[in-house]
Amino acid sequence: MAKWIETLKEEDFTGSVKVVEYDNVPIAIFKLGDQYYAIDDTCSHDEASLSDGEIVEACQIECPMHGARFDIKTGKNLSFPAVVPVKSYPAKVENGVIYIAVEE
Ligand code: FES
Repeated sequence: MAKWIETLKEEDFTGSVKVVEYDNVPIAIFKLGDQYYAIDDTCSHDEASLSDGEIVEACQIECPMHGARFDIKTGKNLSFPAVVPVKSYPAKVENGVIYIAVEE
């Protein structure tokens, strides 16, 4: 069962990505336009931090280590060497606070 957890205030969200932790798992929250999306920060190929990568083609993150691309909106792996997706988390904003839904 999922539960919504509070992460950051929108006013504190500078730039296009921030990393939060839940249950010792780093989760990258991306801002694309005025929407927020959350995916696991650790690349599914190795241990790189996707938040250190570059956003390309509007909604893809390119891993800084070996260049695999993931869809920021879904976590889907889009190119080698990653062959499995990263987990994605629903995100929403309420009263200026960004929430993500995590499994309990
Ligand atoms: S660690 Fe991300 S592509 Fe290898």
